[in-house]
Amino acid sequence: GRIEDAPRYAWRGYMLDEARHFSGAARVKLLLDQMARFKMNRFHWHLTDEQGWRIEIKGYPRLATVGGTGCHSNPDTPAQYYTQEEIRDIVAYAAARHIEIIPEIDMPGHATASNRAYPEYSGGGTEQHPDFTFNVGKEETYAFLTDVLREIAALFPSEWLHLGGDEVAYGSEAWKQDPHVQALMAREGLATVKQAERYFMRRMADSVRMLGKTLVGWDELLDLGLDPQRSLIMWWRHDKPDCLRRSLDGAYTTILCPRKPLYFDFVQHADHKWGRIWDGFCPLENVYAFPDAWFEGWGMTSERSAHILGIQANVWSELMHTAERVDFMTFPRLCALSEAAWSQPDVKDYGDFMRRMEAVFASFDRLGIYYFDPRNPGHHPEPAGPEIIKRQPPKMDFRD
Ligand code: ACM
Repeated sequence: GRIEDAPRYAWRGYMLDEARHFSGAARVKLLLDQMARFKMNRFHWHLTDEQGWRIEIKGYPRLATVGGTGCHSNPDTPAQYYTQEEIRDIVAYAAARHIEIIPEIDMPGHATASNRAYPEYSGGGTEQHPDFTFNVGKEETYAFLTDVLREIAALFPSEWLHLGGDEVAYGSEAWKQDPHVQALMAREGLATVKQAERYFMRRMADSVRMLGKTLVGWDELLDLGLDPQRSLIMWWRHDKPDCLRRSLDGAYTTILCPRKPLYFDFVQHADHKWGRIWDGFCPLENVYAFPDAWFEGWGMTSERSAHILGIQANVWSELMHTAERVDFMTFPRLCALSEAAWSQPDVKDYGDFMRRMEAVFASFDRLGIYYFDPRNPGHHPEPAGPEIIKRQPPKMDFRD
């Protein structure tokens, strides 16, 4: 026989957040195996955030050894991170399965773990998000982050390099009191902290370009006026379809990963307790129906859809402290996402999908994957989320 097939979308992605809870190499390889099986081809690796920095950087070793301590549920866990040797091994493992890994080093917000290790680059934050930002006013910050990105760029052969750029306002009010940021704003004629953010991101975009990579960022990047030829936008704020339209009308190559229905930390069944709920939840059917069922509401046109490179699910791991929880939230929604990414709308049939899933569920049972079973929700009961130790990590200063 001869099979002719082609995917609807070139980018069929899955993002794993390692900062809130660390999965480790064996688990990542299992997830890559399952991605490959369902012909998903982009693994977006969220390696840094407030709670942890999860990748060794040779020039700045404390990023991993100090920034890697703690997780969302316990600030006292010993350092957990990938060595560069492990990273190379996982990148090769993925490539052998036709999966490209896109690393994300989030900036200038979500920088708390880095600031724990190297407080001299902190731009401060708020009581709720202390030391949330990098200091965009110090020249040393640009040198530091460019050094870090140079090591990252050498480890990951992907053309894409993700610099986050989301939710900076959680901490950037502190810049109004920071003498270095204030001096920068006076020197460059920047009237607002948003303009300082824009200045920072444009300079870091230059670093990305200098390293021979193409910038990826969350949809906040649309405020920064970056060159659409040189950046890729991940649209995540489902409550801001205007933002999606701005991305597509601005001719930005765009990945659709709206919280609803593609954040897999949202619960998937009305009876589940552990996970986010926002005007309803993210059931399997909605993932399968994505994206066409939303097109009309977003004002999609054929000109706009021409800029959509693909779709992606994001697993934020605040409540994913065990393998069971990651499995439970990922499967079988990943299978529905694969089919949504792969199939043209006229051949999609949810009933047929569920019939074909019978064999997949049997294989998950053999593999010991703790999936949510929509046929029989009692098959794998919902695993409880973590008990969260609320205490802030102690303020540390590791100066020699
Ligand atoms: C995000 O969920 N902050 C991209």
